[in-house]
Amino acid sequence: MMKRTDRHYRFFMRQITKHTLLYTEMLTTGAIIHGDRQRLLGFHEDEHPIALQLGGSDPDETAEAAAIGEDFGYDEINLNVGCPSNRVQKGRFGVCLMNEPQTVARAVEAMRDAVDIEVTVKHRIGVDDRDSYEEMLRFVDTVAAAGCRRFTVHARKAWLQGLSPAENRNVPPLRHDEVHRLKRERPELTIETNGGIASLDECTAHLDAVDAVMLGRTAYREPYLFADVDRRFYGDDSPVPTRHEVIRRLFDYVAYWTEERDLSLNHITRHYLQLFRGQPGARSWRRHISENAWRDGAGVHTLREALELVPEPQEESAA
Ligand SMILES: Cc1cc2nc3c(=O)[nH]c(=O)nc-3n(C[C@H](O)[C@H](O)[C@H](O)COP(=O)(O)O)c2cc1C
Repeated sequence: MMKRTDRHYRFFMRQITKHTLLYTEMLTTGAIIHGDRQRLLGFHEDEHPIALQLGGSDPDETAEAAAIGEDFGYDEINLNVGCPSNRVQKGRFGVCLMNEPQTVARAVEAMRDAVDIEVTVKHRIGVDDRDSYEEMLRFVDTVAAAGCRRFTVHARKAWLQGLSPAENRNVPPLRHDEVHRLKRERPELTIETNGGIASLDECTAHLDAVDAVMLGRTAYREPYLFADVDRRFYGDDSPVPTRHEVIRRLFDYVAYWTEERDLSLNHITRHYLQLFRGQPGARSWRRHISENAWRDGAGVHTLREALELVPEPQEESAA
């Protein structure tokens, strides 16, 4: 999620779930081709499985960016056909491409020619007045004919005029039933639904109808919800670290980035603020980090101090 998630968020989430597919935020093909690749694309090998999400539509550029992503070791390239921001509309990528299924198909084809890893597409139900199920199906069929086998559908349309990006994530109603129908009518494709999913029980319910679910805001707001994901959805019964253990396992990582890479602690720990959500001590945790992580000299000791403010449940510390 742009302006929200980054490699430090993903490394944090990997302490909680080993199997969930993680994505980069959308990166434009131009940034990847012309920008600081190591900064934009670098990731820790523990972050696998990880998909690189591209914003773009020009076949040569999407192909080049996809190849760069493959060289960096990404497991999958995902094309964003869901983002409604103005900047994105001007660049002719994101959700406005729902009006141009052939353009998306050409980009997918070019990327598939350029890489061996899977190429997938994230899109919406529709855009503006073109939001019928039939139109979405036509979009999916056109892109599937170019070789895309997996589609993640944000189950609401976008209005290109009049709604801000944030409103476009909340105002148009969710229409998960149309994503379920898509799976029924195109069983050979892998179909994932996304939008407003707030609990693992809701995931289970959707999984009766589709192949997978994607969680955005909930994954950021409630990271520890994922503690039960590996057991419940991937059949992996390995013990999951407690919240305290998650943080202790991050000490070396935090020390490396703050001491050897000179990164401000704040860039890393802002992603940890919600870990103790709903637990005793959550406020002290958040406050200590918020008040101190941006200061000069903040480091792993700051994180240790914050952790000491959160009572460790007896059964947890014995685990
Ligand atoms: C701050 C923010 C940034 C986002 N950035 C991206 C992005 O880079 N790529 C993307 O595919 N979706 C992005 N989204 C949309 C989410 O991935 C998701 O489709 C949408 O929020 C609906 O799902 P949710 O209710 O589970 O969050 C973003 C959402 C938010 C709130």
